Amino acid sequence: MGYVAEADSARGAWQSWFRLIEGVALLMDDNAFLKKCREKSLLSEGKLRNLARLARLVNRNEVPGDFVECGVFRGGSAAILSRELGSRHLWLYDSFEGMPPTEEIDGPGAKECVGLCVGSEEDVHEILRCAGVTQDQYDLCVGLFEETFKKYLPNKVALLHCDADWYRSVSAVLDTFYPLMPPGSVVILDDFGCWEGCREAFYDFCFRNNEKPLLERLEYDQAYWIKGRKHNRTPEGI
Ligand SMILES: C[S@@+](CC[C@H](N)C(=O)[O-])C[C@H]1O[C@@H](n2cnc3c(N)ncnc32)[C@H](O)[C@@H]1O
Repeated sequence: MGYVAEADSARGAWQSWFRLIEGVALLMDDNAFLKKCREKSLLSEGKLRNLARLARLVNRNEVPGDFVECGVFRGGSAAILSRELGSRHLWLYDSFEGMPPTEEIDGPGAKECVGLCVGSEEDVHEILRCAGVTQDQYDLCVGLFEETFKKYLPNKVALLHCDADWYRSVSAVLDTFYPLMPPGSVVILDDFGCWEGCREAFYDFCFRNNEKPLLERLEYDQAYWIKGRKHNRTPEGI
């Protein structure tokens, strides 16, 4: 009896060690991957971590639909989302020609950025490969939103990452994808606090659709909300 109990407790101790080592290895792998994504993204580490957290949230809540990113650039934030895909599909939209022309509503300073942020399709494929995602798990829709949104669309969207800065681009993204989003899905606006055009597009969209999102903020620019969520008296995970 004594021998069996001792053997059991030794086995238990070894299992705990293995779990700990496995946990540390996973954490190191996660951190190395995050670093790689940071190198191909304009987003801060905090915002990338929040993207992953929100993707896991919709997964935990079993919200149906695919993941969408509008404004891909070199693929850093897309790769973060791709790691949480599971059996979902990832839809990526970008012209890869840099920031399109602005309007007055985009605010002072915006026009100086026209033509900047020229992304790379090859970089996107490469980092997604590195994330362990295969080509059949994502669609890279290349061209101006105004064109690609007419041709390539998911049926349902569980998470929408809008990182497209300007009024016209953000309006097109919200008008196109929001109707495809079920309750519990998440919208992330990367530029809410940075570009006036993004903020204006959000408020105009809400006004047109009588939407009153419970807007959450992260750092100086990111904003996000969970569709249909009315208050924060219960945790986000419910
Ligand atoms: C700020 S960057 C995206 C950054 C990226 N998410 C990252 O992780 O670094 C904005 C991107 O949006 C794209 N974009 C903005 N408006 C667009 C439009 N109307 N059609 C296509 N691409 C657009 C630009 O080409 C640019 O690559």
